[in-house]
Amino acid sequence: MPARVLFVFGTRPEAIKLAPVIEELRRDPASFDVRVCVTGQHREMLDQVLALFGITPDFDLALMRPDQSLTDLAAGVLVEVRRVIDELAPRVVVVQGDTTSAVAAGLAAFYAGVDVAHVEAGLRSGDLSAPWPEEANRRLLSVVTRFHFAPTEEAREHLLREGARQVFVTGNTVIDALLRVPEVDLPFLTPGRRLVLVTGHRRENFGAGLESICHALADLVRAHGDVEVVYPVHLNPHVREPVHAILGGTERVHLIDPVDYPAFVTLMKRSTLILSDSGGVQEEAPSLGKAVLVLRDTTERPEAVRAGNVRLVGTSRERIAAEAGALLRDPAKLAEMAQVRHPFGDGRAAGRIADALRSAICS
Ligand code: UD1
Ligand code: UDP
Repeated sequence: MPARVLFVFGTRPEAIKLAPVIEELRRDPASFDVRVCVTGQHREMLDQVLALFGITPDFDLALMRPDQSLTDLAAGVLVEVRRVIDELAPRVVVVQGDTTSAVAAGLAAFYAGVDVAHVEAGLRSGDLSAPWPEEANRRLLSVVTRFHFAPTEEAREHLLREGARQVFVTGNTVIDALLRVPEVDLPFLTPGRRLVLVTGHRRENFGAGLESICHALADLVRAHGDVEVVYPVHLNPHVREPVHAILGGTERVHLIDPVDYPAFVTLMKRSTLILSDSGGVQEEAPSLGKAVLVLRDTTERPEAVRAGNVRLVGTSRERIAAEAGALLRDPAKLAEMAQVRHPFGDGRAAGRIADALRSAICS
């Protein structure tokens, strides 16, 4: 009998990072009976990824509400995932990362007595306030997880120090996804201009931090006449409103809706420099040979900093404009950062996760 494995996820990055694992397990139906439940924590941004990877969920909890509170979302996921677990009686529930969907689904599985497998386990910023609430979510998940899939040795060490037992170093599955998406045409880019790609959505940056980032971007295009900024703006209203209020109508700043994964990967490849507070982008950029200035004060991805592709610059307007300006004026300095390196693995993480699960749960 194949072992029933239930994947539960809800946001764009979880979908990108679990798609290769779902695909890998589905290749071995003799070992795995794969079921997919999406919480719908995200809607449009999740559906873009499901469509791309051809994933049709068995359950869609459709839990997104405009400007949803984390408490209501977590409560909804707990109750609804428990119903799905009761119906399916899975052998394992697989979750990814550090979102509210992941932690609440992991807790629902734990309360139901079902083993939890955690993909991208062991990341730690060491600061409960940044990223908030993700640092707490990932630590809470580690407590209820049986199978920990750590992307790097350093993540594994964090887990072992905290007493975790079944820890497997696999690489990050985002590299698996990254290496398989096709490039696409980007007709809105202006030939001859250097592209600065921007994303930003961290909750601890809402308000003053995000406003300061926007002013820095305006300063940057003013100082560099050959630079254009492309900023796919996250659908969270706490992001959209200030970003459009400050940067709307600014020359050479393109505020666009979130783009699908192939378009975003193509934008990264075409970019001269990336400014972002995203976790996934810090992991992808080194494998693409790109430099990222991270709009945060801490990171749980120090491997990318050590590799040389990523530098923490925080949210100060002056510092962002100065650091980005220095790199744009000095191609040699930029080239030193922007080399191809692979701190998060070789793109074969999903296969390692499947192998580990096969030996652990399939008789
Ligand atoms: C969530 C995760 C964060 C992850 C990020 C990836 C938590 C606490 N946060 O943050 O860890 O890095 O996703 O993007 O789990 N919205 C839409 N359509 C969408 C998605 C969002 O309209 O497709 C709007 C809704 O009004 C929603 C709001 O954005 O209420 C916030 O979404 P939510 O998932 O709560 O938080 P994110 O900031 O996206
Ligand atoms: N991404 C995307 N379209 C966009 C912006 C980002 O497909 O418009 C991808 C990006 O390549 C990465 C992931 O989404 O794989 C990161 O998602 P996000 O920044 O929302 O979340 P985080 O990684 O910070 O949790």
